This record gives sequence, C-alpha cells and structure tokens, in this order.
Amino acid sequence: MAGLFPHLYDTAMQPLEKMRFEKIRSGLVRKAEGRVLEIGFGTGANFRYYRNVERVDAIEPNPAMSRQAIKRIKKAQIPIATYQTTAENLPFADNSFDTVVATLVFCTIPNPEQALREIQRVSKPGAKILMFEHVIMDQKIFGKTQVALTPLWKKLCDGCHLDRDTLWLVANSGLKVDKVTSYYKGLFLTIESRCIQ
Ligand SMILES: C[S@@+](CC[C@H](N)C(=O)[O-])C[C@H]1O[C@@H](n2cnc3c(N)ncnc32)[C@H](O)[C@@H]1O
Repeated sequence: MAGLFPHLYDTAMQPLEKMRFEKIRSGLVRKAEGRVLEIGFGTGANFRYYRNVERVDAIEPNPAMSRQAIKRIKKAQIPIATYQTTAENLPFADNSFDTVVATLVFCTIPNPEQALREIQRVSKPGAKILMFEHVIMDQKIFGKTQVALTPLWKKLCDGCHLDRDTLWLVANSGLKVDKVTSYYKGLFLTIESRCIQ
C-alpha cells in the first residue's frame, strides 16, 4: 500500500482539495516572499499558488512523489528548483531563506525536532515559517482515537502520524508563533511563525 501512495495521493486528496484545502493552501502560500524553501513538496500541490517570490527551492525525499510534480513545476509562474533530500538534512547554507513553506508534511517527517532545527538554521532572522498540518485534536475522545489509529495509519499512509502535536513542536522549537488558525474542529491548523534567531 505504501508503495502505491504516490500514485493514489492526488486522487485521494481531490475531494478535500476541492472542499477547502485549495483555499487554505492558496491563502497561506501567497504570504510567501523572497527566496522560499518548500519542505516535502510531494506532488507539488502548492506550486501553482506562488506569486511574487524570487524563487522556490523545494525538497522531497521520495522520487515517486517528485515525478508526479513535474507537470506542476513546468506550469508554475516562478522558478522552482527541486532537491531529493530530507528536512532533517537540508543542503543549504545558514541564513538562506526568507520564507519556509511546509504543508501536510510534519506528520510524516521521522524526526520533526531535527527538521525544525534545520529550518531555523537555513532561515534568515525574521523569516516566515508557513505551515498547514493535521495534528492531534484537543478533544480527548478524538485525540485518543488518533493515537489508537496511528500504528496502522502509518503503514497505510507512508509513515504519516495522525497523533502528532506539531503546534507544540513548533512552539517549543525556538520559533515565534504569530498566528494559528483551526479547521475541522482543530484537526487541521495553519501555523504562521517567525524565525527569531
Ligand atoms: C502527505 S505528503 C504532503 C505533500 C505536499 N506537501 C502536500 O501538501 O500535498 C507528505 C510528504 O512528506 C514527504 N516526507 C517524508 N519524510 C520527509 C522528510 N524527512 N523530509 C521531508 N519530506 C518528507 C513525503 O515523501 C511526502 O511527499
């Protein structure tokens, strides 16, 4: 099943994208400026929303996902360079980026603390960190269900943790959280933070 994930991803996401995700992604991504780093770009769902940025350096470890993004890279309105690597080991110099974008990716990154350290290392002071993530819900019954489902879910969905507390990880990483917006009763959050190093 995990091997099929890159092929099924866009099809599985289509109803969600149509319902609300397109609006959330476009609203968030349009806040990007300057030189942008996108983490775990997958099939490139965000690429069409970038406007008025200098360029996007986009990383993705899974070549099967990146292959699905080729058409979107060609259609994008800004230059996009891609790199096959992980968020825990970014091949960029310190203080390189004005904005970092990460959508639906912190659930899957094996070592999110290390990824957040790397993001801060490559970000300029004051850089915007724009995230859209599903997270563990505050309501106990839902949160417990997410914890119970995660072992199976991880196997089916390419290592995705349903029970990750990404807002807590960000708030405790040294980033300054400026704005959090909740969707679907807190299952999804946009988290806008800044690098204050
Ligand atoms: C659910 S997909 C989301 C893709 C895309 N960001 C989106 O919004 O549709 C999660 C992505 O995270 C990538 N990923 C997994 N581990 C990663 C890591 N350590 N660093 C960066 N990306 C990673 C996966 O390969 C996959 O493409």
